[in-house]
Amino acid sequence: MLVCGTLGCASASEMPRLVQEQGRYSLYVDGQPFFILGGQIHNSSAWPAVLPQVWPALEFIHANTVEAPVYWEQLEPQPGQYDFTNVDAVVDQAREHKLHVVLLWFGTWKNARCHYVPEWIKGDTVRYPRLMDASGRLTDSLSPLGTETLEADKGAFAALMRHLKAIDGEQHTVLMVQVENESGSLDSVRDFSPAAQKLYASTVPADLARAMNLPLGTWDQVFGSSAGERFQAYTTARYIDQVAAAGKREYPLPMYVNVWIRSPDDFEPDPPRSYPSGGATDVVLDLWKAVVHSIDLIGPDIYLSGDSTYRRVLSAYRRPDNALFVPENNNQAIFARYPFSVLGEGGIGFSVFGVDHVNTWSEMESPTASSFPELVPFERTFRVLSSMGRELARLTFAGKVKTALEGEDATTHVMEFGRWKAIATFAGHDEGAHSFPNQPTGVVLVGEIAADEFVVTGFGSSVEFILNHPGLKERWQIMKVEEGTYEDGQWKVRRWLNGDECDFRVDFGDAGRIIHVKLGTY
Ligand code: DGJ
Repeated sequence: MLVCGTLGCASASEMPRLVQEQGRYSLYVDGQPFFILGGQIHNSSAWPAVLPQVWPALEFIHANTVEAPVYWEQLEPQPGQYDFTNVDAVVDQAREHKLHVVLLWFGTWKNARCHYVPEWIKGDTVRYPRLMDASGRLTDSLSPLGTETLEADKGAFAALMRHLKAIDGEQHTVLMVQVENESGSLDSVRDFSPAAQKLYASTVPADLARAMNLPLGTWDQVFGSSAGERFQAYTTARYIDQVAAAGKREYPLPMYVNVWIRSPDDFEPDPPRSYPSGGATDVVLDLWKAVVHSIDLIGPDIYLSGDSTYRRVLSAYRRPDNALFVPENNNQAIFARYPFSVLGEGGIGFSVFGVDHVNTWSEMESPTASSFPELVPFERTFRVLSSMGRELARLTFAGKVKTALEGEDATTHVMEFGRWKAIATFAGHDEGAHSFPNQPTGVVLVGEIAADEFVVTGFGSSVEFILNHPGLKERWQIMKVEEGTYEDGQWKVRRWLNGDECDFRVDFGDAGRIIHVKLGTY
């Protein structure tokens, strides 16, 4: 079907794909930019009998996408025998609830362990070797050098993607697939198995040396004291890339890797003491990017607190060669402002972890808004952003969105757009603070929709526009301020604001007001 609108014509049956233009990225869904406002369900919630309990939470927060795991142990209980019951339930029920899906392949790695591999793998450490530590002890992770393990994971993942193509190749409910979950090693800086020792003693592979412009030499010679982590990153990245490639040959959906990140304040990286060794942390991101060809992006899971930490993690993963997507976020209230930050950085999506209450509900309760008190801050953020829909994703992709957060360095409260600047003020205007005591909740988003025209929304803040560099006799004025809503992507005006409501600045309280501002000079 061909759908035509202001963006031109788009095919509703077009596959989800990552589009890059001038170093900026967008996830195209049905041929148009899409921003993921996601909720990830708990690890053991993707079972047909419990899935009915997860949807109320996702509906409550106005998510447009559910992130749900696929368990290798359930998918392939015996070698080569596949059971797609769980996957089918996720896709079918998500469709009933009008949600898109991001599937998470819990395969060889899940939080740097191997807990989701089938029993026939767990029980055979000869055929499917474990990662060995320096003292020769087997660990709770599989070796990325296990050739039979790799073949088995590739086979299962390819079967999953083949099945997805069969059930979703037309409808495109599933947008992306995460390959493995937080890979790396928590028990040893690297694999010390005989196979690993042999490889480690030889020279750094030519493809890596070429891609990273490295001198020739052994791992120790080239990388010195960080060689162990680099070696682990290389072998893990190569393994995962081959799994992704096997899946893409069946059905080439966008694929990504999520990361158990390192604190950016940790100045002396020391894995695996503080984070899994070999995962795609910022210290080995260049190496990962040089090795993976079938992974479309690498995304940080962010549980660390602090606005400046959050911003630093975003800047590490937002690169001309890497689309910014935050697949997991802590569900503490303070994180509910960060979808704005991701949009301001040109990201393609944000997802909050652990939205359902399956682990504490013994049977289906009748959830109301009060069933999810911890999600209330996310509800208001997602409600406003999802109402803006494709317009927001389009503006972000065009690089025309800027955001400011209360509590951040005040210099970030000034958002420059060519000849205009928008200034956000937080103190004394934060009605939202009453709803979430002791937390900075103010946030502002400004998008440039046309020359001299802006869309603005936010909470607990106020915004004024001024000329950036006024000419000698140049004065500026507000031409018009409209308050309204987006319905099916169309701006619907509710009223015009004037007088006290905008003579100085426009206030944004708790309600999630959206305005359009037209400015002019005389
Ligand atoms: C990060 C993992 O990726 C998730 O699967 C889950 O285990 C969370 N941590 C729990 O905080």
